[in-house]
Amino acid sequence: MLPVQHPLLLSLKNHSRASTLLDRNREQKRIKKIGCLTNQQTFLQWIINQKIVYRWVFFMMTISSPALGQNYDEQRVPAYELPNPLHGENEKPIESAEAWVHRREQIIDSFEREMYGKSPTQKLEPQYEVTEDWTPALDGKAERKQVTIILSRQGSTSKIRVLLYRPIDHDQTVPVFVGLNFIGNASIHPEPRIRIHENWTIGSEDDGVIDHRATAASRGKKKSRWPLAQIINRGYAVATAHCGDIDPDFDDGFKNGIHPLFVDEFPPAKTSDAWGTIGAWSWGLSRILDYLEQEPKIDHTRAAVIGHSRLGKTALWAGAQDQRFAVVISNNSGCGGAALSRRKFGETVHRINTSFPHWFCANFKNYNQREEKLPVDQHMLIALIAPRPVYVASATEDLWADPKGEFLSLIYADPVYKLLGTHGLPINQMPAPDQPVHGTMGYHLRSGPHDITLYDWMQYLNFTDRHFNPDEPR
Ligand code: GCU
Repeated sequence: MLPVQHPLLLSLKNHSRASTLLDRNREQKRIKKIGCLTNQQTFLQWIINQKIVYRWVFFMMTISSPALGQNYDEQRVPAYELPNPLHGENEKPIESAEAWVHRREQIIDSFEREMYGKSPTQKLEPQYEVTEDWTPALDGKAERKQVTIILSRQGSTSKIRVLLYRPIDHDQTVPVFVGLNFIGNASIHPEPRIRIHENWTIGSEDDGVIDHRATAASRGKKKSRWPLAQIINRGYAVATAHCGDIDPDFDDGFKNGIHPLFVDEFPPAKTSDAWGTIGAWSWGLSRILDYLEQEPKIDHTRAAVIGHSRLGKTALWAGAQDQRFAVVISNNSGCGGAALSRRKFGETVHRINTSFPHWFCANFKNYNQREEKLPVDQHMLIALIAPRPVYVASATEDLWADPKGEFLSLIYADPVYKLLGTHGLPINQMPAPDQPVHGTMGYHLRSGPHDITLYDWMQYLNFTDRHFNPDEPR
C-alpha cells in the first residue's frame, strides 16, 4: 500500500458552499421550467407530460445534500491507503521499465475485471463511407470532412459518424484532437452542412433535443465546448463523433449501440466483467483512430484523446488501453475518471453506480461503499498512460468531481512517470486556481463551474504544442 501524503494541498473546503448554492440554483431553474397544470389534463397526465418523475430522479441524483451521504468537507475525508502502482501484492517492487510492462498488464486486467469491463477481442473490418470530402469551412480557414465508420458483425450494424476539421492552408499532415460529443456532431458548430444524427441522445429542449432526438435547433448549441476557430488557428485538426452512435447513454442491459455486434462474447446480463457504456465509448475512440491511421491529411501519430466529464472518464480509459493515443486529456472527469475513489468526496462509487448503472461493469457495484476493497484506484489509471503526456483539469466549483482527488491522482501516478524516465509532474502542491502547470503531466484548476471552456482548450493547446512541436519557440 502507498502511504498517503498529508494534507499538503490547497484546501477546497471554502468552495463547498458555492457549489451547493449552484446546485440549488440549477434546481430552481428546472422547477421553473416544469410549468403549470392546465384544466384539460388529469393530474396523472400532467405528471407524465411534465416528466416530473424524471426531473425528480435527476434532482435526487445530482443534488449535493449531505442527507444523501455526499461529502464536501475535506475534514470528513476518511483515512485511506492507496494500492501502490509500483508494488503488486506478494510481488517484488517494480524498479525498471521492463518490470513495469508486466505490472501494467496486471493493472489493466484489474480495471477491466472490476470497473470498466472487458472490451471485445474480435477485430472488425470496418467500411468507411465518405459523406462529405474535404470542403472549405469556417469562413475559408478550415476544411471539413464527414465520414461514417460502418461496423458489422453477427447480423448487426453500427455506424459511427465522424466529423473532421483541419486547417485549410496546411500541406502537411496535422496533429489531431479526438473526442466524443454529448448530443451530436451538429451541436459543435452551427455550419448547416454538418449532418444531424438520428440516434438516441441525452440533452434537453434547451439543447434542441426533443424526445431524445437532436433537431435542427441543436445546431451549434455546444459550440462553446469546441472552439474550432482557435484550435484550427493553432494548426490542429479535430475529429469528433456523437457518443450515442457508439452506445446510447441509458441503461438497457447492454442491448443497443455497439453491444449486439459482440453478443457472442458478452451475452447481455450474463457477464459481470463485460464492458459498460464507458468501455464501449472508449473502444469507439480507438475505432476513430483506426480510421485516422488511413486518413492522409491527419497525423495519427500525434493524436490527443480528449473528453469532458463522462467523456473525460472515457478519454482516460481509451488512452490507458490504446497506446497509439500520444496525449491524453481529461476535463472535469471526476468519479470513475481522474478522481481518487477512496476519498469518497463528492460523487462516490455507490452514487455513480446507482445513477448510471450502465457506465461500468456489474462487478464495480461490489465496491459500493467499499472503495477500500478496490484492487486499484484512479492514480493507477493515470499511471497506465505513462510515459505519454497526460493532462487533468478541474474547476473550482465542480466539487462533485473532487478537484483535489483529481490532482492527487497525478501526484500518486508520478513515481511511474519518473521510473519511465520522464519529468512527471513538476509540482507537489495543488496550484492556485488559474495557474496551469505543464510537465509530462499537466494540471490546472479553472475558476468556475463544471464545463469545458476556451480557457481549458487554450491550456490543452499549449500543452500539446509543448509535446508535439517541442522545437517551436514559445
Ligand atoms: C453527472 C455524473 C458525473 C458525470 C457528469 C457528466 O454529474 O454524476 O459522473 O461526469 O454527469 O458527464 O456531465
